[in-house]
Amino acid sequence: MRPGDVIQTKRDGGTLSPEQIDAFVSAAARLEGSGWEKYHLTALLMAIYLNDMTPGEAAHLTRAMADSGKRLDLSDIEGPKVDKHSTGGVGDKTSLILGPLAAACGVIVPMMSGRGLGHSGGTLDKLESIPGFNVHLSETEFRAALKNVGLGMIGQTADVAPADKTLYALRDVTATVESIPLITASILSKKLSEGISGLVMDVKSGRGAFMKTRARARALADSIVKVGTANGLKVSAFITAMDAPLGRFVGNALEVVESIETLKGNGPKDLTELSVKLAARMVRIAFGAPDDTKPEALVREALATGTGLDVFRKCIEQQGGDPRVIDDYSRLPSTDATVHVNTARTGYITAIDAEKVGIAARVLGGGRSRAEDAIDPAVGIIVRAKLGERVTSRDAVFDVHYRDDAKLALSLPLLAEAFQVGDAPPADEPLILEELA
Ligand code: URA
Repeated sequence: MRPGDVIQTKRDGGTLSPEQIDAFVSAAARLEGSGWEKYHLTALLMAIYLNDMTPGEAAHLTRAMADSGKRLDLSDIEGPKVDKHSTGGVGDKTSLILGPLAAACGVIVPMMSGRGLGHSGGTLDKLESIPGFNVHLSETEFRAALKNVGLGMIGQTADVAPADKTLYALRDVTATVESIPLITASILSKKLSEGISGLVMDVKSGRGAFMKTRARARALADSIVKVGTANGLKVSAFITAMDAPLGRFVGNALEVVESIETLKGNGPKDLTELSVKLAARMVRIAFGAPDDTKPEALVREALATGTGLDVFRKCIEQQGGDPRVIDDYSRLPSTDATVHVNTARTGYITAIDAEKVGIAARVLGGGRSRAEDAIDPAVGIIVRAKLGERVTSRDAVFDVHYRDDAKLALSLPLLAEAFQVGDAPPADEPLILEELA
């Protein structure tokens, strides 16, 4: 099969056959000897970007990408295996909360996560701010975590979906990232490799999200539900607002503190409610409950009785981390220096721009511009005044935890622009905008 013929099929708006998709994916996984060159792969990516894919093509692409690498078989571990994936946001630390809560309710949660990039944070960076926490478990260690704790939180191993690694790197430099079927296949191929039977998808929508509009978020959520289902997964998708940061803490170690506080029952309302709803859907998918009522009651009980917190403590211990951080936050990395960003006037906070806060956290050293950048786990921002709260010029809107004066100087103008104050509180907007399936 000539690569040029495959490209021509898609260029002319046709439907790729399973064999054509297989040839493309196997070349992406191993170029050498495939008869394909990188320019063939990128030309086909652009043709897909421009002419889209049918759900059937996207489902086959996803399966082929998952099959290009190792797919875990967890059938020897008893219990339903369900994970959650978010398209990423600012202050989104729900994985650290809902993973333990769902596991406390009997779900096995094999969670493979990513690192932060650009203005959005990543679960692995947050976990690694816990002294000793190892996100690079061997398969044997990961299985032991799932058996002993019900929860394992690791990074993607090199042998998971190798075709995605090549294709994602090419998309990144050829303006083809924002294709719904390509995003779907990229996300789901890695999720299928975890050996899960169910997935709860949190598609973020808004200023601080990858999907800036509701229509784009809906298109992605819809595609993920269809393609996931076609690949044998039970999938639920939520579209949730990401205009303002989730919770109050942004920054790696700071987000661990807020996650633990939430598991102790002291979390901010938005973060607690979203974590509970997503965990409840994981429980519902896992045990086939007809609606969310009973699963939600179980999750709230795990929160109220502290069994979710116990799971997080065990998870930290199992993965080599220092579980004493649960009771002693001084064991987490922190900065010596803090400054406040105040408002010039009295009024109500009417907007907080998640993207600007996320960029400010990155600029402080808490995130990356390029995948290979190192991060500082201690720096970050605490949102002292959330949307709708009343402030005077004496009140801090943000506390900035910084280490480097030059980086602080770059972040302060962003933070000064990141909020608005008005005479009346804004109308209450729901956090969960839509549910699909
Ligand atoms: N996240 C992924 O894993 N892949 C994409 O293509 C986009 C977001």
